[in-house]
Amino acid sequence: MEEENINRRSFIIRVLYGIGGVLGAITMVPVISALFSPLLRNTPRDWRVVGRVNDFKIGKTVLVKYKNALPLEWSGLSSETASWLQRNSEKEFTAFAINCTHLGCPVRWEGDAELFLCPCHGGVYNKDGSYAAGPPPHGLNKYPVRIRNNNVEILTSPVPITNIGGEKS
Ligand code: FES
Repeated sequence: MEEENINRRSFIIRVLYGIGGVLGAITMVPVISALFSPLLRNTPRDWRVVGRVNDFKIGKTVLVKYKNALPLEWSGLSSETASWLQRNSEKEFTAFAINCTHLGCPVRWEGDAELFLCPCHGGVYNKDGSYAAGPPPHGLNKYPVRIRNNNVEILTSPVPITNIGGEKS
């Protein structure tokens, strides 16, 4: 009788271990697929046309919107991204990431003050995107810009993640 109880107990324990193992394996599937997904590791980068050169006035900063680096069929509005585009001279443009380098809130351009302001914790950036005040660890991130066939193009990139502990510049 005692031996039968021990066998039953050990059988139940083995079944529970088995169920636990299967559940653990199922739980790990998304983690493992994210780690090994070539799609996530090698996010494609593409040049996106954001307008004609003459659409932008020298010395002005405007918001431009375009499809992000990985516009999936089901991604809807989240496939859109944006940059603050500044025309510095006849042929020179700078594209700033709209995301604050502190915790990623979208910064807004205040033309009168010539500053980028972050509404979340009061981060401030100068006109050239450099750090001015507040909690951001450094200046705004920038995207490569080029002119092709009289179009202004921005190189799509994954949304820059904050760089806590970086240099203030
Ligand atoms: S997210 Fe911009 S200052 Fe904190």
